[in-house]
Amino acid sequence: MKVGIDSISLYTPNSYYGLRELAERHGVEPEKYLYGLGQEQMSVPAPDEDIVTMAANAAAEVVEDAGPDNVATVILATESGIDQSKSAGLFVHQLIGLPANCRVFELKQACYGATAGVQMACAMVRQRPQERVLVVASDIARYERGSQGECTQGAGAVAMLITADPRILEIHPEQGKHSADVMDFWRPNYRSTALVDGALSLDAYHDSLASAWADYRRDGGLSLGELPWLCFHQPFTKMARKAFNTLCELEPEAAASLSPASYEYSQHYGRRIGNCYTASLYIALQSLLETCEEDLAGQNVGFFSYGSGSVGEFFSGTIVAGYQDRLDPALTRAMLDGRQPLDETRYVNWFYGADHDVDAARHVLPVVTTGRYRLSGIIDHKRVYEDGAERLKQAV
Ligand code: HMG
Repeated sequence: MKVGIDSISLYTPNSYYGLRELAERHGVEPEKYLYGLGQEQMSVPAPDEDIVTMAANAAAEVVEDAGPDNVATVILATESGIDQSKSAGLFVHQLIGLPANCRVFELKQACYGATAGVQMACAMVRQRPQERVLVVASDIARYERGSQGECTQGAGAVAMLITADPRILEIHPEQGKHSADVMDFWRPNYRSTALVDGALSLDAYHDSLASAWADYRRDGGLSLGELPWLCFHQPFTKMARKAFNTLCELEPEAAASLSPASYEYSQHYGRRIGNCYTASLYIALQSLLETCEEDLAGQNVGFFSYGSGSVGEFFSGTIVAGYQDRLDPALTRAMLDGRQPLDETRYVNWFYGADHDVDAARHVLPVVTTGRYRLSGIIDHKRVYEDGAERLKQAV
């Protein structure tokens, strides 16, 4: 049975901060961020946005297309959780009108979480082929102000429907896995920003890729020469080039037939959005599918998912004929091009000042986001969300 991605949809907030501006503030040459790391902009969530609103904005269309009654499970993957107990997916479930007989839960393993969700969803569909599973990856990458990691921040969400006979990507059953206890990146419960050992994180990423690749090959996976397209977890887009070089070193013979074109299309969106942790790999996939002019039908894609801490997985898939009919590149382009640049004050206030973890009985948030779903406040320690469909209609 063929199982995989039947629809995919991306949401990123309506504002961004330029990496050129950040470089000036950090006193480094802009080229370091623009070319050294391959980042131009970072999406910045509005004060009334969080991982729930981004997830709902990404998932609404996917669910409208499938029909809400056809979604049997929602898996929300995030490392920017809003509650220690309740799954963020339950707020999304209510906001987008999913039925009660739908299973909802949250998954976490840094940037790897969504891949765990996709693999689990594929297994669920193989067991009950009539069911559809919604996997949503939603994250805000936030580091300490002025730190080494600030230039790799970003925010966004990707929603995917996993079904039998998928119309975008058939996911192959072969898997290559690697887990190791590494303190390369972590965020203790009492912190809103991540801690990172940058150099160790790069080494851990490469070690994980080499080990996951070897395991994928042992599991009967395709050779590098059979994978003309590659999508890597991209905390910054230069990482895709580094990962590609690692794979080429591991398989020098196959590498001769590969070119950087195999990963370059997957970098276009990430360069403008920034790291979205667990959503990043799937933003890379949507970028490849929507920006490559060639018809990719029938071609294989290799994926490397990496989540610090750390878990890596290499897997692959085949792009399905007619996949273009399931995408709307003009809509994604309009979303990216329509974003507003922020000046430094607003960037700092929005990224670091929007404290939703306040221990407040009443915390009301004004309307700032132009997204459909927003966090309207926290009343009696309960988050209150709003579907702004009517508000947006009136604004037109
Ligand atoms: P750094 O030390 O500030 O940067 O931190 P650098 O000195 O290594 O320079 C970066 C690149 O810019 C280098 O290129 C320089 O040569 C180049 P490379 O040698 O690597 O190819 N450069 C220039 N290029 C052109 N013109 C110039 C110039 N100057 C320098 N003038 C680091 C970089 C990534 C470590 C830092 O930003 C960081 O700590 N980021 C956060 C951690 C991270 O993203 N790690 C990636 C792997 S771990 C991962 O992906 C998981 C993660 O997503 C979390 C999760 O799983 O949840 C992070």
